[in-house]
Amino acid sequence: MKKKKIAILTGGGDCPGINAVIRAVAKKAMLEFGMDVIGIEDGYDGLIHDRHRKLGYNEVSGILTLGGTILGASKISNPYQYALQKGKAIVFKDVSRKAIANFKKLGVDGLVCIGGDGTLGIACRLMKDGIPVIGVPKTIDNDLRGTEITFGFDSAVAFATEAIDRLHSTAQSHHRVMIVEVMGHRSGWIALYAGVAGGGDIILIPEIPYSLEAVLAKVRDRKKKGKRFSIVVVAEGAKPKGGDVVVKKIVERSSDPVRLGGIGFSLSDQIERATGTETRAVVLGHLQRGGSPTAHDRILATQLGAMAVELVVLGQFGRMVAVEKGLITSVPLETASGGPRTVPLDHPLIAAARALGTSFGDSK
Ligand code: F6P
Repeated sequence: MKKKKIAILTGGGDCPGINAVIRAVAKKAMLEFGMDVIGIEDGYDGLIHDRHRKLGYNEVSGILTLGGTILGASKISNPYQYALQKGKAIVFKDVSRKAIANFKKLGVDGLVCIGGDGTLGIACRLMKDGIPVIGVPKTIDNDLRGTEITFGFDSAVAFATEAIDRLHSTAQSHHRVMIVEVMGHRSGWIALYAGVAGGGDIILIPEIPYSLEAVLAKVRDRKKKGKRFSIVVVAEGAKPKGGDVVVKKIVERSSDPVRLGGIGFSLSDQIERATGTETRAVVLGHLQRGGSPTAHDRILATQLGAMAVELVVLGQFGRMVAVEKGLITSVPLETASGGPRTVPLDHPLIAAARALGTSFGDSK
């Protein structure tokens, strides 16, 4: 009987726990089903340029705790909109037929795509074009539809919380306003969770546009009550009422080119000028995506990876492994690409934080 083969691809931004998923998929496929495992290198770039390698047991062993991805990733390679330099201009070309032909040459039974909305949106199109795909939801942003949680989120929250804890020292000692800008893209999950865990006085998330007056009022009110410092946790995608997000960079070669960032610095100037309180901003940036996954993320990644192999073996392609009511399940792959899953305004954590006096920048 022909030996079965499975391929793994990691797309989009890295995040803690990707290697734990690779390990789970590869080990289970090898040990339980005697499959060969192929690693596609650098996300969809590897499919387009035919770069891959057979993964041996030793390569996938000992990587549970390792940050990043041993396969490499790409945030800009999209086979349906591949950036090519034409003189000074960048043009986008559909190279999906080449990517699909390269995949077919591998003689693989299923492709496990580990990624966020961009990667899984592409996976969905590949599925429709005849590639048997299973998706695994990955992102520190926790903003994928179809799953209650993504792996990587808990690790990012743990890191951001520790950063807030450390910033409390300077805030208290120097009687300052300290602003921590966290990632999250267009959603406020990281800011909300780390903000609550770190005891942020003001938490600004994209889902609740803030008023500068309300932010200033909170800082002044705390001062009046004897609290000479304030901690502001702001999501990179937060925006003022009637205003827009702060764009850090446009990545021209990307089919999703806007990178957010910088709101912490503009808020810092505004708060210092208006209140006279010394203010500093810290942007955590990619530090949130690096390093070893938390125990929670290692467990989640392991479960999701194992479930992905089950689906390949059962031939249930076009699905994304997911978490529903705390249990590992699967949903149709297209669920993931329905736009970002933002924080619902009636989320219990918002209510709990408000009850404790936390401001979301919409009232004092
Ligand atoms: O989606 C993960 C993420 O880290 C977002 O939180 C952030 O907006 C973006 O990626 C940063 O992208 P890049 O790695 O291209 O700077």
